[in-house]
Amino acid sequence: MDIKDIKAAYRRYAPVYDVIFGPIFNQGRKHIIDSLNCQPGDRILEVGVGTGISLPLYPADVSVTGIDVSTEMLRKAERRVARTGLENVEAVLEMNGEDMDFADGSFDKVVAMYVVSVVANPTRLVEEMSRVCKPGGEIFIANHFCSSHPLVSAMEKRLAGMSSMAGFRPNVDLDEFVDASGLDVVDVRDTNLFGYWKVLRCRNEAKAEDMLHAAMAAEPVTASQG
Ligand SMILES: C[S@@+](CC[C@H](N)C(=O)[O-])C[C@H]1O[C@@H](n2cnc3c(N)ncnc32)[C@H](O)[C@@H]1O
Repeated sequence: MDIKDIKAAYRRYAPVYDVIFGPIFNQGRKHIIDSLNCQPGDRILEVGVGTGISLPLYPADVSVTGIDVSTEMLRKAERRVARTGLENVEAVLEMNGEDMDFADGSFDKVVAMYVVSVVANPTRLVEEMSRVCKPGGEIFIANHFCSSHPLVSAMEKRLAGMSSMAGFRPNVDLDEFVDASGLDVVDVRDTNLFGYWKVLRCRNEAKAEDMLHAAMAAEPVTASQG
């Protein structure tokens, strides 16, 4: 799947997205937003915000930014923000989650709901999510990963051949994804219909470089007194 296929797929989905994928994915969206343990003033980034269906679920005292590559999905998000008067939404922007314009450490929490199977390069997406999240912040991902059931897994492999047209890959392997992306996963929960999707809660580890800067900025160690 490349970005052209993805944009074409979501141009087609945009008019009907909320009807088809609204209720079915809602449990996972609510689970993530409840688990964010939002603090007043937190800056939250939602990558692949789509039609902004999750935006009304965030608390009023945080600041939410949503990004997406699909113009048509974003137009719906903009209309939703205007219609529902969501003052906690700082911006919805057309931007690629694999190459974001935000400075390092811009957000306290970074969220991607049902996006990992959709992007061209999931490892690159996680790298960028980690970069724009503060060291020590949190990353939340909701996604479907390959089933361990042999019949379901065989069906997912067959469907994988239609990924470009469908706009998602049904056969992302959880262990391979976590290994390749280097995510520090602290919790995994089943969610949505038959627990067929998962919510990952991940710690955004401070990078060695950041730790070095912090150590250099810290008070010099003085000789012990006494
Ligand atoms: C399955 S929809 C999920 C929408 C929403 N998060 C939800 O909960 O329903 C996937 C979204 O990811 C967007 N997307 C795909 N690749 C992207 C990328 N590289 N950067 C940002 N958004 C992307 C698509 O345009 C689409 O709106």
